[in-house]
Amino acid sequence: MKLFLDSADPKEIASMAATGLVDGVTTNPSLAAKAGMPMFEFLRAICDVVPGSVSAEVTATEADQMIAEGNKLAKIAPNITVKVPLTWDGLKACKALAGDGHKVNVTLCFSPVQALLAAKAGATFISPFIGRLDDAGQDGMALIREIRQTYDNYGFKTEILAASIRHVTHVRDAALAGADVTTMPVGIFKQLAYHPLTDKGLAAFLEDWKKTGQKIL
Ligand code: G3P
Repeated sequence: MKLFLDSADPKEIASMAATGLVDGVTTNPSLAAKAGMPMFEFLRAICDVVPGSVSAEVTATEADQMIAEGNKLAKIAPNITVKVPLTWDGLKACKALAGDGHKVNVTLCFSPVQALLAAKAGATFISPFIGRLDDAGQDGMALIREIRQTYDNYGFKTEILAASIRHVTHVRDAALAGADVTTMPVGIFKQLAYHPLTDKGLAAFLEDWKKTGQKIL
């Protein structure tokens, strides 16, 4: 499973990208609003440090305008993926942009039939929002499983990008459910490496090693 960052902070993204483990980045208008710099500058800064897919979302609501915005966003860098919302206009824009060779991420997906439409419209990624479904008292992870089964039944190649991730358990469950990608805030990405028994075990190893008085280098 690919691991993406969902972030508005190019510095944070650069520092995590240095691990070599960041496969891509997702942004949205709310994150861009938090970035504290013009959106194009913000996206260029991210594309400079992350070679993988960087999702940049259109803000128009009509297909023609979405397509025009998508074409402009795609010129920022070759790794830009144009992000459109899951509306009829968004699906029309997805079909047109994908037909022109752009990668498209269809976002704000809350049902398997929405995901089916996005796949038929040629989406590269579908973004189901897990945490927001959980917040509404529904089972967000069930949606990942339902989309996985729908896509596998018909051989759709659209990648399932689990979004709106709230904790490490969401990442684990998305991986087990067969999501192709999970996007998450930097804090959760960092927590993926953490386990208290790892810290405890390492402290004991180092203590025992210190007693020997030896050095490797
Ligand atoms: O990229 C979109 C998505 O991850 C948003 O998450 O936390 O605003 O529901 P959240």
